[in-house]
Amino acid sequence: MADETSTPALQDNVLRLGFGASGAWSKSWFSETKAQALVKRALDQGISHFDTASFYAGGLAEIRLGKALLALGHKDVEVSTKTGTHYHYGKRPTKDFSETNIRKDVEQSLQRLGREQLDILYLHGPDGPQLKAAHETLIALKQEGKIKLAGVCGRLASLKHAIEPETIDIIMGPYNLLDTSCKPIFAQAKAAGMRTIGIAALIAGLGDKQLARPKSLSDIWYLLRALKHNRPVITEARTKLHQIIEHLGHKSAEHVMLAYALAETNIDTVLTNTTRLAHLDANIKTALAEPLEAAVLDELNAFGVSHGFPP
Ligand SMILES: NC(=O)c1ccc[n+]([C@@H]2O[C@H](COP(=O)([O-])OP(=O)(O)OC[C@H]3O[C@@H](n4cnc5c(N)ncnc54)[C@H](OP(=O)(O)O)[C@@H]3O)[C@@H](O)[C@H]2O)c1
Repeated sequence: MADETSTPALQDNVLRLGFGASGAWSKSWFSETKAQALVKRALDQGISHFDTASFYAGGLAEIRLGKALLALGHKDVEVSTKTGTHYHYGKRPTKDFSETNIRKDVEQSLQRLGREQLDILYLHGPDGPQLKAAHETLIALKQEGKIKLAGVCGRLASLKHAIEPETIDIIMGPYNLLDTSCKPIFAQAKAAGMRTIGIAALIAGLGDKQLARPKSLSDIWYLLRALKHNRPVITEARTKLHQIIEHLGHKSAEHVMLAYALAETNIDTVLTNTTRLAHLDANIKTALAEPLEAAVLDELNAFGVSHGFPP
């Protein structure tokens, strides 16, 4: 059984962990100094892939990330951002994948991030027709040098239309202990020569015991978000998760959850986000540690499937 305290061993010299510039990290009430310190630590420890979106914290996430990378003198990292979703206070988000909106977002993202080209531009959760209609815009943006790679991020419903390697270079989707629905799509994408990014590995902090005992403003924010999105199953899921992890003899739920996502070989990079240096260090340690053993993976797979998550 893999031990989370064992000495890290770099696999193929590639850190398969990316930094999510989103969530509490991006909010105006979260300290700018701490946000920058997290980006610095990520860079110092070898993270070179950063993900954000035009609509995270109303644009502040891109501004923060751009400022931090510029201040730290790092222009040569890979930065992804997203287009297509608009959040409205107190109302349901709306989608817009029109050429006008995509181009407007691209210009704003370039400006906020302080970059001349977007390494990756994802369409955020398009349906099949929306994705098809946006193909020409993505191709034109690549030809103009505004974007390097085009991607689609979202759940299975979006990603199943995205295996179009002539236009789409990369997909991003959830993959965790309780939701492996995108596994076949990741395999298809790799077989088609595309890149793949896994998200929600930590199920938005579900494994963390602090979720029930918030210690900071960001803990409260994550707790409220988790309750809003997942109220009926959250307590049950947490209890079962801790039962299985204890049964497997691991001390840290997050180590097991992240190692589980990293064990999916058809995912190139797993993203996590955090507001704590200690958590960032722990996640990097997990990404560098020995992979989970096959027998442990079998038990974890059986756990997720048998409990029928996500609802
Ligand atoms: N989930 C989505 O809907 C979505 C959609 C598109 C893109 N993304 C991308 O994916 C990235 C990852 O986000 P995610 O939603 O998948 O979140 P996640 O990384 O699965 O979960 C983040 C939560 O885990 C906690 N956490 C992180 N490391 C921890 C550790 N070692 N120990 C204990 N708690 C830890 C964080 O709290 P602390 O701050 O206390 O560490 C936070 O509450 C985002 O930043 C974004 O770039 C996500």
